[in-house]
Amino acid sequence: MKAIEVTDQAAGTAGMKLVERPEPHPSINDVIVQVHASGFVNTELDWPSTWTDRLDRDRTPSIPGHELAGLVTALGYGTTGLSVGQRVFGLTDWYRDGGLAEYAAVEARNLAPLPGDVDFAVGASLPISGLTVWQGLFQHGRLKAGQRILALGAAGAVGSMMTQLAREFGAYVIGAGHAAHRQTVLDFGANEFVDLDNGVLEDVGEVDLVLDAIGGEIGKRSARLVRAGGTLVSIVGPSEARPADGLAVDFVVESDLAQLGEIVQRVRGGRLRTNIGAVSSLDDAVAALNPTERRLGKTIIRVRP
Ligand SMILES: NC(=O)c1ccc[n+]([C@@H]2O[C@H](COP(=O)([O-])OP(=O)(O)OC[C@H]3O[C@@H](n4cnc5c(N)ncnc54)[C@H](OP(=O)(O)O)[C@@H]3O)[C@@H](O)[C@H]2O)c1
Repeated sequence: MKAIEVTDQAAGTAGMKLVERPEPHPSINDVIVQVHASGFVNTELDWPSTWTDRLDRDRTPSIPGHELAGLVTALGYGTTGLSVGQRVFGLTDWYRDGGLAEYAAVEARNLAPLPGDVDFAVGASLPISGLTVWQGLFQHGRLKAGQRILALGAAGAVGSMMTQLAREFGAYVIGAGHAAHRQTVLDFGANEFVDLDNGVLEDVGEVDLVLDAIGGEIGKRSARLVRAGGTLVSIVGPSEARPADGLAVDFVVESDLAQLGEIVQRVRGGRLRTNIGAVSSLDDAVAALNPTERRLGKTIIRVRP
């Protein structure tokens, strides 16, 4: 099968290569997914799980891309809950080969049914962004209706879903990003926009929750805006500063089938819009994942036309 593999951490996405690999074998409780579309986040290449196994042994060459949508083509020994021919989507194990390939072996427990009226490219764009937002807002951020939230990186793949879901649950959303992204952020439903290039972050006043998809100095400054009892949730590693009288949480997204169901039903009902930027074939994936200019939205690799 065709696959994108990485062997050299220092090379980053520029080290991706399109290669021929043997098709994967389904282990106990796995399915084989014929991948129709897959997504990728750049930080995967910074994570140890792309390079070593759970015992810290080299596992390269590895296939990145940990969100996918496709068809089940085979079941492993003892696998229940899914059937051959079923449309599925989900977040795959960080320590296993991922979805930038024609086929992937995935634990059935990580895959949710993809409704027939949801395009595979849309399905592949949902697991990482959707689950991260759901877990960030509701599990870690304990968002309540009426709260004020600051969404850092609001024009991005995660940030745009963050705004929409937080608004649906009754929050007042202040979206922050580059000046050029003002209209995008407002179009995704933010009540206000903070221009991080020219504006003053501190002008937003106190918030109950910060969801930080940027980090660095901006993440650090945002900690001071969290009101007593509030929370700073970072998805870009531990925050460099903590709220004076609140919680600081950082986390890595986990698979959750019930949450995937909630997310895909909102997409079908038109309540949630995914933020897809470019769509590319697997043959052109290396170039697409190494863009020469900044792109808004998520790059999706359509593995099968
Ligand atoms: N912990 C987890 O489980 C988890 C899950 C998903 C994603 N993540 C991480 O979360 C981050 C966001 O992911 P994403 O998929 O949403 O990426 P994305 O689509 O690139 O969105 C990030 C947004 O933030 C903006 N931004 C970045 N730095 C900025 C700055 N200094 N000032 C103003 N705006 C800035 C970007 O604008 P430009 O592109 O124009 O700079 C972009 O609009 C990534 O680092 C990703 O690895 C973590």
